[in-house]
Amino acid sequence: MKRPQPYSRHYQFLCAWIGLLCLTGCANAPSILAPQGPAAARIANLWWLLFWMAMAVLLFVLGFLTLALFRRRPTNISNQSEPRNGTRVVVLAGIVMPALILAVVYIATLWTMRALATPAIAEGLTIHVIGRLWWWEVQYPEQQFATANEIHIPVNQPVRIVLSSPNVIHSFWVPELQGKMDLVPGQINTMWLEANQPGVYWGECAEFCGTQHAKMQFVIVAEPLDVYEAWVAQQQQPATEPADALAQMGRQVFLEANCLYCHTIKGTDATGNLGPDLTHLASRRTLAAGTIENNIGNLGGWIANPQHIKPGNLMPAAELTSVELQALLAYLATLN
Ligand code: CUA
Repeated sequence: MKRPQPYSRHYQFLCAWIGLLCLTGCANAPSILAPQGPAAARIANLWWLLFWMAMAVLLFVLGFLTLALFRRRPTNISNQSEPRNGTRVVVLAGIVMPALILAVVYIATLWTMRALATPAIAEGLTIHVIGRLWWWEVQYPEQQFATANEIHIPVNQPVRIVLSSPNVIHSFWVPELQGKMDLVPGQINTMWLEANQPGVYWGECAEFCGTQHAKMQFVIVAEPLDVYEAWVAQQQQPATEPADALAQMGRQVFLEANCLYCHTIKGTDATGNLGPDLTHLASRRTLAAGTIENNIGNLGGWIANPQHIKPGNLMPAAELTSVELQALLAYLATLN
């Protein structure tokens, strides 16, 4: 039989570099260790408990290893107390201690899972989130409006998130606020979120769902109650009538090109539901599910060639003259 070869030095270097790259890549990402809500705080607490327990075990093992390395061998091998001591150490350190440690881990994990399942006080608001390829449809059923890739919530209030998917499995994850929850076709999953501080919290899809999985992000915007209510009141409004001639022409372009088959703009004939609701597009921070910042230049680039920015997405390139594109952008900029 062939003896397994030890890993080569090159392989070890490669692994070390990949590990370092992963760490530096994560440096700017939202961290579960910087919790901004009660659920995330529970997860972080569990993480630190596991970390310190693992550290204690590591130090314990290293301590014994060091002891074994430097301990002098007994000269009298017929010493009868040695085997009995050895058995005691094996039973204690090899069976009793691991069983105790695993029991603590088990109970702490169950405790955390129970706390994550339901918030301390009942949720005051329900938001439906639907996983699309590759963006997030966001519906506020009680307030009767829809948006995309940007979820506003009042601060210090648990919010119920109802998750579904008509296509493949996605996973909804806001590291600073909660753990992950899958969006599974044919099934409704629910979770809750709460933010302690006003702020913008990045979320992402945490389950590989196709070629543009990495470009399936969203933001949670946690706001004081009055700011949140003002945002809701704004989102409930139909689109404003464009005032200037260029924007009016842009609205005509929108309604005469193919845009209206996929997009809704409340207050117009556009009621498509394949793509995001654009009624208040200009009020959002990002385009294409967090891929690019929402500004006129990026929006123009997106409309002219969405496949360049996000290959494989459902939006075809619009065939417009430059004047039509300018007019369309002027119109979309009015959709606050
Ligand atoms: Cu959706 Cu990954």
